[in-house]
Amino acid sequence: MAQSSFFFCILALGFFFGASYAFDPRPLQDFCVADLNSTVRVNGLPCKDPATVTADDFFFRGFKSAGNTSNQYSSSVIPMNVARVPGLNTLGLGVARLDFLPGGYLPPHLHPRGTEILIVLEGRLEAGFVTSYPNYKHYSKILEKGDAFVIPVGLVHYFRNIADRDTVAFGVVNSQNAGISVVSNAIFGAKPAISSDYLSKAFQLDKKIVEELQSKF
Ligand SMILES: *[C@@H]1O[C@H](CO)[C@@H](O)[C@H](O)[C@H]1NC(C)=O
Ligand SMILES: *[C@@H]1O[C@H](CO)[C@@H](O)[C@H](O)[C@H]1NC(C)=O
Repeated sequence: MAQSSFFFCILALGFFFGASYAFDPRPLQDFCVADLNSTVRVNGLPCKDPATVTADDFFFRGFKSAGNTSNQYSSSVIPMNVARVPGLNTLGLGVARLDFLPGGYLPPHLHPRGTEILIVLEGRLEAGFVTSYPNYKHYSKILEKGDAFVIPVGLVHYFRNIADRDTVAFGVVNSQNAGISVVSNAIFGAKPAISSDYLSKAFQLDKKIVEELQSKF
């Protein structure tokens, strides 16, 4: 092989592997329904025998009504991800139904592995995200029925119901397992706890306030 084409191949390999590591792997077959019982550890989940795949592997009946909104957030999230629908394995897709009572909200959080499209079906929602260092720019929008908003992967974002009635939305993500990290829980609810001396400095807060926050999350 000529030296130049050799280098081209290395470059191309780097590009393709880079691309497949950055997002859910591209399917190389019609489907790879997850074998949720397998003890094999791979990025994603191994496929079960296609002969045992049924329509139920692709089916979800969880979106008929709101989840339980009797919580501090007055909201609920019903995810449809690979853990619930094994047919999503390797397809790079997930969705969740979000319900908010009047005054309901989701606390600031991020999805480590998914960009989200939020679509409002009923009510009115304020949706916002904040860019990363160094700008930390806050983008927000009031979404009415039929509106949609993009939350780029990994950015901290929030939703709150600003209607005087229930708000219903769907969040679509480009991962079978987008993940969620609620900022307050990650910082103040870490187990084992992060040093309150350290957090008191990092957040420029009295240590008592930090400890109070730590007791809440
Ligand atoms: C996984 O194991 C459980 C318990 O042994 C069994 O009921 C279930 O059918 C298994 N699921 C799959 C997808 O093989
Ligand atoms: C909803 O959640 C609350 C708080 O966890 C619980 O007390 C209540 O039983 C739940 N309601 C239903 C219908 O599951």
